[in-house]
Amino acid sequence: MAIKRPEGTFDLFGQEMQEWELFKKCANETFGAAAYELIQTPTFEKTELFVRGIGDTTDVVNKEMYSALSGGNIEKLKSGEEISSKAQLTLRPEGTAGAVRAAVENGWIDQASQPVRIWYAGPMFRAERPQKGRQRQFHQIGIECLGSNDASLDAQAIVLMMQLFKEFGIDVDKCTLHLNSLGCEKCRPAYREAVKKFIHTNTDCMCETCMERAEKNPLRSFDCKNPECKSAMQNAPLIDQYLCDDCKAHFAKVKQFLDLANCKYEIDATLVRGLDYYTKTVFECTFNDGLGAQNAIGGGGRYDKLAAEIGGPDIPGLGFAVGFERCLLAKKASASKSFATKRKGLFIIPLDENAKSFAEKMFVLNSFNPEIKLDMDLRPEETGQTCVRSLKSQLKLANKSNAETALILGSDEMENKCFTVRNLETHEDSKVSFDDAKKALHTSIPQE
Ligand code: HAM
Repeated sequence: MAIKRPEGTFDLFGQEMQEWELFKKCANETFGAAAYELIQTPTFEKTELFVRGIGDTTDVVNKEMYSALSGGNIEKLKSGEEISSKAQLTLRPEGTAGAVRAAVENGWIDQASQPVRIWYAGPMFRAERPQKGRQRQFHQIGIECLGSNDASLDAQAIVLMMQLFKEFGIDVDKCTLHLNSLGCEKCRPAYREAVKKFIHTNTDCMCETCMERAEKNPLRSFDCKNPECKSAMQNAPLIDQYLCDDCKAHFAKVKQFLDLANCKYEIDATLVRGLDYYTKTVFECTFNDGLGAQNAIGGGGRYDKLAAEIGGPDIPGLGFAVGFERCLLAKKASASKSFATKRKGLFIIPLDENAKSFAEKMFVLNSFNPEIKLDMDLRPEETGQTCVRSLKSQLKLANKSNAETALILGSDEMENKCFTVRNLETHEDSKVSFDDAKKALHTSIPQE
């Protein structure tokens, strides 16, 4: 039996590949205008980066990381030898920890200068149970901004995320932007204690995992899927009562800036997010039409202690990431724009050897023509068959390749320097001279 791709992964090709390219193009334009520069970091990092950066009490670190060892180290492991922590590598489950590591390691952070503003696009890996909108390899586009605690940057990040959705063709009227502040190292400990106490006083309604969570990371219980925990947590204390003056003022500014930018949001005091590095602002955008349980298309927030946590300078940061596959589902459900940017597809059909050599020249000449996509019959010869196939066979191929127009070229056409142009949707024919084809169809025509 042929080997299949691993569960929870997809091959990207055809229209979806075009959509991924388009998504990156929209990101480049949207983020570029706000002074964010594209970077690329390795798809794997030292395991320790994620354990320290994302937090060892999160599901991502505890249950969902794909960790890798080189061949030699696997042998060592089998024979019971210790593997050095340097050799323990993990496929990145998200882009923030790697981006911050790169900024620290490459010395991009200069506290006397403007903040570092970077963006990235690429595959991420999480060993989750696959379902619609949840994969084991998926693609994210994200931005990170390091070196400023100015609330205008939090609001700008949110506006940029919503703008990216719009540019890509997602109906933002079907989105809800959830917003919260998780406080800082000064005010969060008291809040954590309050939630822990609440869980302990509700032991009969809480699941075993939440009881364990209560010790290490009680806020995780807000995300528990167990219906009893969910309903119990509705009465849990909320962070807004615990924010210190500094966090309150910061959050008020973020909201003011969003109001100013006319960016709608809903305050959700139970939004805690699944990664432990967040401080102050957190946000998540859900798409409310047909995505089912996995309807978060993007999310992020501030992480003022992450750089220090991974051994860098104590500088604040913030960012977000959006999931390509979920955004594509949202775009399809939005139907606010045509599905893909369609190029004008021309299929040239030569009917004899002479016309074929002309067609081949035309094919090469138009390789870099941004206006059209020119294709022709390039199937290998079958033994004993002439290399120019019948009109019927070539037309079938043209239809299959989704071309809009066929340019038919026989001996008459070659003599009269024209094409028979067939509209492949209406099947209507017309004659167009080589000169007119140059102008009307934006093609380059070879000198015979
Ligand atoms: P996240 O919320 O874990 O945040 O992921 C961001 C987005 O990636 C989600 O909203 C979702 O669209 C997509 N996503 C996550 N997991 C999967 C999956 N298994 N299958 C398909 N799509 C998925 C982060 O990753 C943070 N690093 C965001 C950030 C950047 N915060 C600050 N800077």
